[in-house]
Amino acid sequence: MNYSIECKQLSKNFGTLRAVQGVSMQIPTGSVFGLLGPNGSGKTTTIRLMLGLLQPDAGSVRVFGLDPISQGDQVREQCGALLEHTGLYERLSAEDNLQFYGQLWHMPQRELQARIKELLGKLDLWDRRKEIVGSWSRGMKQKLAVARAMLHQPKLVFLDEPTSGLDPVAAAALNNDLLKLVKDEQATIFLTTHILSEAEKVCNLVGVLRRGELIAFGGPHTLTQSTRNAIVDIFGQGLTDPAILEKLRNMPQVRQVEAVDGHLEIGLEGTAEPSEVVKTLVMNGASVDEVRRRKAGLEESFLKLMEEENA
Ligand SMILES: Nc1ncnc2c1ncn2[C@@H]1O[C@H](COP(=O)(O)OP(=O)(O)O)[C@@H](O)[C@H]1O
Ligand SMILES: [Mg+2]
Repeated sequence: MNYSIECKQLSKNFGTLRAVQGVSMQIPTGSVFGLLGPNGSGKTTTIRLMLGLLQPDAGSVRVFGLDPISQGDQVREQCGALLEHTGLYERLSAEDNLQFYGQLWHMPQRELQARIKELLGKLDLWDRRKEIVGSWSRGMKQKLAVARAMLHQPKLVFLDEPTSGLDPVAAAALNNDLLKLVKDEQATIFLTTHILSEAEKVCNLVGVLRRGELIAFGGPHTLTQSTRNAIVDIFGQGLTDPAILEKLRNMPQVRQVEAVDGHLEIGLEGTAEPSEVVKTLVMNGASVDEVRRRKAGLEESFLKLMEEENA
C-alpha cells in the first residue's frame, strides 16, 4: 500500500493544552479521508502539522515520505489547501482569482486556461466567471475556493471544514460538487468536518478526533458496525401489552423501549444482542415475526463514540 500521509504518535501542545495527542494513522494514496470531530478537537492543528506550518512537539509526520518541517517547500508544492480563509480576492472576478493563483503556481497559460474552464464548468460557475467574487454567496465562494485549492492538480488536497458557515442546502450542493470533482481527480483528499452525515457521503475513510486523540479510524462502514447501543425494531403480535413493556423495561440488556404503530423500538444496552428480548416477548405470550437491527448512520455512531469517551 502506498501512503500519502503517515504519522506516528504525532503530538502538539499549546502551553498546557494538548491540542493533538499521540495521533497515529496512515492515509492511503487516492483516499477521500474525512477527519471528524467537534470544534476544538484538533482538526486544524493536525492539518497545519501536515503542511509544516507547525512543528510537532513529539512523534512524526511524513507526507509523500517527506518531513513537512525540513522539506516543507517540497511538501507544500504538491499540496492544495483550503484553510480558514478562502484565499480569494473579493474585488477580482472568479476567473481572475484563478488566473492569479495559476500564475503563482507557474502554470503554463494554455494549461491554466483549460484547467480553469474544466473546474468552473464542473462547479457550474463557468457562466459566472466574469462576476466579482465579493458579490457572491458564501456557498459560491466556497466552491471557488475549492477550485483554487485544486487548481494546480495537487496530489494531496486539504479542505478544512469546506462547508462551514453554509446553510444545509448550500452545504449539500458543495458536497455533491466535491464528489464530482474528486471522482475525476487523481488526488488524495483530506477534509475535516464536524458534520458527520457529510463525511459519510463523501469519504471512504474516516477518523474521529476527540480532544486531540484519534478515537476511531476506518471505513465509514467499520465505524457504523462497531457501534454500541444498537436500536432494533421488532414486529409481531401482542408486543405492546403494558405488562410486556414493563417486563422489557426491567431487563438489564434494554436501555429504552418505545411502542410505535404496534411495533417495538428497543434501544439495547452496550453490546447486548436482541435474542434475550425476543425470548422475553415470546415467554410472555407475544409472537415475533421479524427483528430488524437498525443500521446507525455515521452521525449516530459518532455521537455514541463521543458519549462513550465521555462516560
Ligand atoms: N495557535 C494556537 N495557540 C493556542 N491554542 C491554539 C492554537 N491553535 C489552536 N489552539 C487550540 O487547540 C485546540 C485545537 O484547535 P483546532 O485544531 O483549531 O481544533 P478544530 O480545528 O478541531 O476546531 C483548541 O482548544 C484551540 O483553542
Ligand atoms: Mg478547525
